[in-house]
Amino acid sequence: MGLLTLGKAGLGAFRQALSAAELRVGPDGRPAARLPCPLASHILSIRMIEPDLFAREDDAAHPASLSEAYRSTALRSPGHRPIRIPQTLTETSGFTDWSQACAVGSADLTRTAGGEAIGQRILVAGRVLDEAGRPVPRTLVEVWQANAAGRYAHARDQWDAPLDPNFTGAGQVVTDDDGRYAFESIRPGAYPWGNHENAWRPAHIHFSLFGPAFATRLVTQMYFEGDPLIALDPIAQSVPAAARDRLVARFDLGLTRPSYALGYVFDIVLRGPAATPTEA
Ligand SMILES: [Fe+2]
Repeated sequence: MGLLTLGKAGLGAFRQALSAAELRVGPDGRPAARLPCPLASHILSIRMIEPDLFAREDDAAHPASLSEAYRSTALRSPGHRPIRIPQTLTETSGFTDWSQACAVGSADLTRTAGGEAIGQRILVAGRVLDEAGRPVPRTLVEVWQANAAGRYAHARDQWDAPLDPNFTGAGQVVTDDDGRYAFESIRPGAYPWGNHENAWRPAHIHFSLFGPAFATRLVTQMYFEGDPLIALDPIAQSVPAAARDRLVARFDLGLTRPSYALGYVFDIVLRGPAATPTEA
């Protein structure tokens, strides 16, 4: 996440979005309309931040774009060294309050499709922090995951595992004033992924965060403490060893709700030397 590879077209689109935002904000400074997140990501109050506000990333915390054991990276990793660009308005602008910006979805994934999803209930909670350890308030946290059998509710996922009609696997939540978030779900199952013979992804939940600016954008995966598949997974292992544990949620008895659900804590740092690694 330390390098931004936005091309000229991307920069133009974002500047256009800034103009749209000015038009859509009402006279009271609040958004004139609310659309589903993140489709309305260009319509809300925008904070302009001084250039070079954000420290350089610690690249050692993040996976290399090319990882031999993670075979598909050979097809999509860049052939040239990335070019580091200075932070400008494009990278340092962001949204101050996602809950005002768009209609945020549900933080309860166990009931997103009407009935109750099948599987071990879990509660996942934590804080979103910036590079200095300060809370990131009112920022959007999006998650998506496979069901308890390890299958996604997606047309391209066709492996031989049952779908759950009561589970979409997608959720959204906005952090509170202390940067805290929480959502309720079911523990995802492992699934095969064909990277090599008998390859199984560890149970994981995908996370997407925007943070206060484009420079803090993070897409990553959360794993579960004690999962033996983590040590065998080329995606998890592509993350440098020193930072790998930052992707592992720890079981927490205090968060566990009696006779209902197991609790897991997963704190997220958007940038800096303690940054949560991005996914490979
Ligand atoms: Fe996945």
